[in-house]
Amino acid sequence: MLSKIKKIKNFKSKRKLVCLTAYSKSFSRILDKYCDIILVGDSVATAFYGMKSTKEINMDIMINHGVSVKKSVKKSTLVFDMPNNTYRNIKEAKKNAKYILKKVGCDAVKIESNGKNSNIIRDLVKSGIPVMGHIGYTPQFKKNFKVQGKNKFEGKKLITEAKRIEKAGAFSVVLECITGSVSKKITSLINIPTIGIGSSNECDGQILVTDDILGLSGFYPKFVKKYVNLEFFIDKAVRKFKKEVTKKRFPKKSNAY
Ligand code: KIV
Repeated sequence: MLSKIKKIKNFKSKRKLVCLTAYSKSFSRILDKYCDIILVGDSVATAFYGMKSTKEINMDIMINHGVSVKKSVKKSTLVFDMPNNTYRNIKEAKKNAKYILKKVGCDAVKIESNGKNSNIIRDLVKSGIPVMGHIGYTPQFKKNFKVQGKNKFEGKKLITEAKRIEKAGAFSVVLECITGSVSKKITSLINIPTIGIGSSNECDGQILVTDDILGLSGFYPKFVKKYVNLEFFIDKAVRKFKKEVTKKRFPKKSNAY
């Protein structure tokens, strides 16, 4: 039987990969039915904890989320985003990736590229740890948001980086906020699936932060599509609960022992 990682690689150019983030088992239970990849993203820092940057989250907090997510994952490939400062050198990366795999039971880790850390991917893969790459706007390494690949120089650099990540053995690569034309070139030049976020429909798959598409995060840049406004529905339900409690309409006899 093909491993989950091989299956993901085989989807290249066959059908689009569906990927979303999850931070808890109640979400992964639903996502697992529809997603090829579920990512325990470091976006938990901003989307869930309200931190200013994804750099603020630490590994132990993320592992707790990973353990919860894993409880409901049966068929999707579970990827864990290695947090900031956990893969600054090969020794640190190996130690932490092994610890994450053991504690969470995920299928792979993701690491953001700083333009010179593909050797980390190579060494993790060599020691049997599947790795997803991440290029373009990489929040752990870039201060201010900017669309990536807008000029020839930047475009070439991104293409070289994507090829290097493929050569290092990554099974897929996230392209974040890269122009459509550069995303198209990268996707056609490498043999591993490209997963886009804000990088057009030229990629082999798409990933978004689940809280964003559900209207829960309050963060809706151009590349996000809000599929439902859950904030509205939660507001409505909580307002009704308040009304029923204060008017003594809840609990009813049927809710009591
Ligand atoms: O942390 C995250 O959510 C990500 C994105 C690719 C969605 O890295």
